[in-house]
Amino acid sequence: MVGGSPPIRKVSAASARAHTRRSDKRSFNSPAGLLLRLVAVSLIGVLAWFYKAIQPPPPNIPGSSFGPPITAPRVKLRDGRHLAYKEHGVPKDKAKFTVVFIHSFNSSSHHVVTPSEEVMDDLAIYMVSFDRPGYGQSDPDPKRTAKSIALDVHELADKLELGTKFYMVGHSMGGQIAWGFLKHIPHRLAGAALLAPVINYWWPNIPSDLSTEAFNQRHPVDRWEHRVAHYTPRLFYWWKTQKLFPSSVPPMQNFSPADRQLLSKLPFTIDNRAEATLQGEFESVHRDLLIGFSATGFDPLDLDDPFPDNQGSIHVWQGDEDLLVPVTVQRHIVRKLPWIRYHEIPGAGHLFPHADGMADTIFRELLVGGETAT
Ligand SMILES: *[C@@H]1O[C@H](CO)[C@@H](O)[C@H](O)[C@H]1NC(C)=O
Repeated sequence: MVGGSPPIRKVSAASARAHTRRSDKRSFNSPAGLLLRLVAVSLIGVLAWFYKAIQPPPPNIPGSSFGPPITAPRVKLRDGRHLAYKEHGVPKDKAKFTVVFIHSFNSSSHHVVTPSEEVMDDLAIYMVSFDRPGYGQSDPDPKRTAKSIALDVHELADKLELGTKFYMVGHSMGGQIAWGFLKHIPHRLAGAALLAPVINYWWPNIPSDLSTEAFNQRHPVDRWEHRVAHYTPRLFYWWKTQKLFPSSVPPMQNFSPADRQLLSKLPFTIDNRAEATLQGEFESVHRDLLIGFSATGFDPLDLDDPFPDNQGSIHVWQGDEDLLVPVTVQRHIVRKLPWIRYHEIPGAGHLFPHADGMADTIFRELLVGGETAT
């Protein structure tokens, strides 16, 4: 505890008096001393409370009593973690095209952009989606980085025998994550489509006036969230759970009129929605934001063309009325990376991949260069 030195017994009376006199001035029994003691105790109390408030609780591991029950197939990774996955389209052994899908923020392997059944059958597409670490039934990865998730998918592809190369489609935060695959496992890719990939406003190669202008268009609450994630990641859990300041944008405010029309088309059900974050928000949605707006990592503008011999293609799709992902920055990126095939959709917001017929167009472009069925 604070104050109170141990009693000194074997001293002469004189030195004891001198000792008492000397320390009298600062004695904790004087009003000033008492005040000091109170301040010290409260300070320690506040620090202890704050330390506790910033610590995220441990995640509810899938299969444990509070975690999501395991119902999906899973593969075991290099460090013992599991990834849960879901298969779509034609059976694997009938496939002409194999696609790995990377889901967006606050969703899971159920939340995919899939072409119609006719296109799936016509092109013989086999698609695998997986719960990203910390989401759904995949174990959390407290060491998650842009690279680790690329290696996770590398392993998933090996365990599922997807072949040396596969296609990749990622939406929103899943699109930002897909940039990491271009960097870390380009040799595994046959091609990729990034649908409204999220921008990190601190990517060093984006001119700062451009990223600042785009950043300032974001909702003020989102701006604070991104700043806390970027500058003080240790405080992020506290920021998202404190009640003094708003930390979440009211629903719908980030959706354009076109997006609102599409909300009912999203592949969300009450159950699969809830399952996404059953492990807790920290290892799922918070970690997504911490990585998405981090100071480290790489910048897509540093990437080299993964297909210098034209044996595959990388596509970016973007709506020009997207309120979450600024079209201005996306245009800059694709202008600097001329090997990207850029598709800008007038009037579209962030959810355009769920518009009627859109997924068919995106998959045909990626897999057969836009050819229609024969
Ligand atoms: C994630 O989705 C759930 C269900 O729709 C919602 O209640 C929750 O607020 C969302 N979390 C974040 C961080 O957006």
